Amino acid sequence: MAHAEAYKDPGTPDEQSRRTFMANAVVALGGVIGLGLTIPLLVSLVPAQDANNEEWSPLTPEQAAALRKATDNPVKVTFNLHEVNGYFGATDSEQFFWAVKADEATMRKRRPELFGGIEKVPYPAIALGFSVFSPICPHLGCRYSWDSKISRFHCPCHGSEFDNLGWHITGVGPALRGLDPLPLREFSGKVQVSWIEYKQNTPDHIILKVG
Ligand code: FES
Repeated sequence: MAHAEAYKDPGTPDEQSRRTFMANAVVALGGVIGLGLTIPLLVSLVPAQDANNEEWSPLTPEQAAALRKATDNPVKVTFNLHEVNGYFGATDSEQFFWAVKADEATMRKRRPELFGGIEKVPYPAIALGFSVFSPICPHLGCRYSWDSKISRFHCPCHGSEFDNLGWHITGVGPALRGLDPLPLREFSGKVQVSWIEYKQNTPDHIILKVG
C-alpha cells in the first residue's frame, strides 16, 4: 500500500503542462489579489476628495476670506484643526497654514517634484487657485515665517529658506525638500483643509498622520 502511494503516475506531457499552467495561474491570481489589497491601503492614507469625513477642518467665512487675500505674497491663515482620536474623541485646536495664490502650470514649473517621483504628493498641490503649506518646517519641525523684506519663507532654527511657492532655496539651510502642501477643497459651500504631518528631514513625502 505504502509502495502504491509512493508511486504516482506523472501523467502525459499534456497533463503535466496543464498542471504547470494551473499552478502559475494560481500564483499570478494571488499577486493580483495582493496588489488589489495594497493599493486601497495606500490610497486610504490620504483624505477622500468626495467625502465629508473627519479628516477635513472647515474654515469659518472670515478664515476663508483671509485665505482669498493671498496673492504672490503668502498670508498666514488660522483655522480650527478638527481632530478625532479614540482616546480624547473630537477636539478642536487653533492651527495655521500659509496660503499663496498659484496656478497649476506655474506650480508644475516651479515645484515639479510635487507632481512626480519620490517627492510627489498624493493629492492636488493646487486647489481653488491657491496652494496652502503646512507651517511645520520639513527639516526638523520648527515654525517658519514669511519674511516680506527678502520675499522668502525663513526658518529661524537652522536658516532654511523657501520661495513663495515653497521651493527650498538651494544651499540656504539644511532642509531636504520644499514646504509641504496641504489638501484644500470646497465642500458643501465651505472651504476645508486637511492637516497632514510628514516625516521630517527626508527628501520624499512620507505621510505620518492625516487629520
Ligand atoms: Fe527649519 Fe531646521 S527646523 S531649518
